[in-house]
Amino acid sequence: MSDSHPLHDHDHERKHQEGHDFAAANAKHFNENVHKFEQHPFAKELASRQLTAYLGAYPFDEEKTVMMDFACGIGMVSRELAPYTKQIVGVDISQGLVDEFNLRVNNQGLTPDEMKAVCVHLNGVEGELDNQKFDVIICGMAYHHIDDIAKTTQTLAFFLKPGGVLLVIDMLEANNVADNFKDAKEHIDFEHIVAHKHGFDEATVRKLFEDAGLIKFELNIVAKAKYHKFPTKIFIAKGTKPDA
Ligand SMILES: C[S@@+](CC[C@H](N)C(=O)[O-])C[C@H]1O[C@@H](n2cnc3c(N)ncnc32)[C@H](O)[C@@H]1O
Repeated sequence: MSDSHPLHDHDHERKHQEGHDFAAANAKHFNENVHKFEQHPFAKELASRQLTAYLGAYPFDEEKTVMMDFACGIGMVSRELAPYTKQIVGVDISQGLVDEFNLRVNNQGLTPDEMKAVCVHLNGVEGELDNQKFDVIICGMAYHHIDDIAKTTQTLAFFLKPGGVLLVIDMLEANNVADNFKDAKEHIDFEHIVAHKHGFDEATVRKLFEDAGLIKFELNIVAKAKYHKFPTKIFIAKGTKPDA
């Protein structure tokens, strides 16, 4: 990687934030804002775009597919995918969002065996989630909230069955977003919960996936979006855990 690569700027930015516990800040923020979760003007549209992208990237089978929704929120995307899966386990670090996820599952008449969420910080070690492994793991619009995305990608790869697929949706790199973000007063409230304000470029995401042992990497743009008012693009990245 050359010295002029934008990653260096991002690393620099992150070093300034060292010591800040993004996971704790996110858990606190989302616990305090459970009922605002769906209010973002683009939230429903984005959930529907995510659904289309996931369905296009993986052959979901309602008889067989066992899925993890990592950083599941209140389950806006999981609920859309429920008819296409056998079982969904949502994982999030916000107990408030997990409770809302499970309330809505219950209201929908689904059983926890079909769909449930748990509040846990996964480390990717034996014994977690009752040693369950997954055909597909989705993670939508959460990587930019997570400080150590290399470790997170390795953890998610750990939870895939051999041949299983990781699908990550997030913002493509757009420096103007970060610059505007930094300058815009109304966004200062969010700074403490967004670890990667620039979004991600393809090379960075590819490296995360490859370092986690995933193969057949692909990245495609799925939507143009506005992130807190600023234009950006949303990508879906896909990687496969090799067969044993
Ligand atoms: C913008 S929301 C996206 C929620 C959901 N994936 C969706 O698309 O509707 C970001 C989510 O990431 C979760 N989150 C943030 N940091 C996390 C971490 N370190 N581990 C697990 N979840 C995290 C938050 O609690 C929140 O539910």
